[in-house]
Amino acid sequence: MTLRAFRAEILSVARDPRTHPDAVRHEVDGLLVVEDGIVVARGDHDALRERWGGVAVERVRGLIVPGFVDAHVHYPQMDHVASHGEQLLDWLTRHIFPAERAFADRAHADAVAAAFLVELLRNGTTSALVFATVHAQSVDALFDAAMHQGMRIASGKVLMDLGPDGLVDTPEEARSDSEALIARWRGRGRLSYAVTPRFALTSSDAQLSVAGDLLVAHPDTLLHTHLAENARECVAVAERFPDAHDYLDVYDRFGLVGARSVFAHGVHLPDRACARLAKSDAGIATCPASNLFLGSGTFDLAQADAHGIRVGLGSDIGAGPSFSLLYVAGLAYQAALARGRALDPFRALYLATAGGAALLRITDRVGGLLPGQEADFAVLDDSATPLLARRTRGATLAERLFALQILGDDRVIARTYIMGECAWNRDGPASSDPEGQYDRR
Ligand code: GUN
Ligand code: ZN
Repeated sequence: MTLRAFRAEILSVARDPRTHPDAVRHEVDGLLVVEDGIVVARGDHDALRERWGGVAVERVRGLIVPGFVDAHVHYPQMDHVASHGEQLLDWLTRHIFPAERAFADRAHADAVAAAFLVELLRNGTTSALVFATVHAQSVDALFDAAMHQGMRIASGKVLMDLGPDGLVDTPEEARSDSEALIARWRGRGRLSYAVTPRFALTSSDAQLSVAGDLLVAHPDTLLHTHLAENARECVAVAERFPDAHDYLDVYDRFGLVGARSVFAHGVHLPDRACARLAKSDAGIATCPASNLFLGSGTFDLAQADAHGIRVGLGSDIGAGPSFSLLYVAGLAYQAALARGRALDPFRALYLATAGGAALLRITDRVGGLLPGQEADFAVLDDSATPLLARRTRGATLAERLFALQILGDDRVIARTYIMGECAWNRDGPASSDPEGQYDRR
């Protein structure tokens, strides 16, 4: 048994403050006690000191928050961020499909998966719902690497029988590969499986039916796909499915809309679809950095709130250019403001942590740094840059948090802990890794 304690300022928002105004939990001088990776106590240092007096206390400089939960990200695209010139459909054809073909090579997938997970850690992200590629082994590569890091990762083989040459499967392969992956990985480490049709345009009706069958056969899996992201995509979907009420209805007809469904984007949704999302208890991973990068538009958070839809945040690497969910939260604020309503920084923190965990159905495990949960957390340094230091000096907690979201990125992540163990230390010794600085613990 290992028992350890961390003394620091601690902040978490375990419930949506829009509906739970008392959800913000903050200790100015807090103590987090961790036993075998699980939080066993959390509160004011002075109040807990006596009870946990014998435990070795690590003094942590910075603000401890729950590890971020990236509710939508593509690991095979990390080396193709910042690809110039196109909106979604042309960007996929010109930049992304060629990049994903390379994942037929297991060694390439292994190398990218390892670098991807470290990049998550560098940015304070400890859990994620991840797109792999159409190749089953791309999922094996990611899950193997996640087991090695001890991270909480959900992923699945991408289903795309209408994909471009070299990046297609068949409905039969979609079924057998997914079944084999579920059998191979179920119950291992901190992993979970997501049935992952790429989007409506790259799957035949027969393959969308297979996705529905998989969800029925494996009720513990998630459904992960894209929804109503970009204007031209929406036109193409309406042309292919003229009988559907709207884009969401396409998925609904194949049994893909339910309480374990996570839809990325949802920028262009009619009220009917919003009502259906809320009724089914499905969630949206909003990806404001990606939406801006691909010219897709701005997510209507007020519309989602009016319907009571559950929302989390996604980086959507590589359409999104940053792994930092702080940066993404800052853009979520700007996207909401463009639609006329400011996003509160505590709510933004919720979306980046417990909100994402709720989409992945892991709130019993992570997201709030509450007793009984796993001790995944990030340490934020609000003096990481000269401007941040000036802006946060003497500021209120809300002002500091907002400044971290608007001015912050990987530079403010001083440390990231997985199950109470330091997995990334910004200020640790530089590594001998010739490709970069990917080994700081
Ligand atoms: N829609 C279908 N595939 C993709 C993808 O890879 N990225 C984004 N942003 N949208 C998609
Ligand atoms: Zn995406």
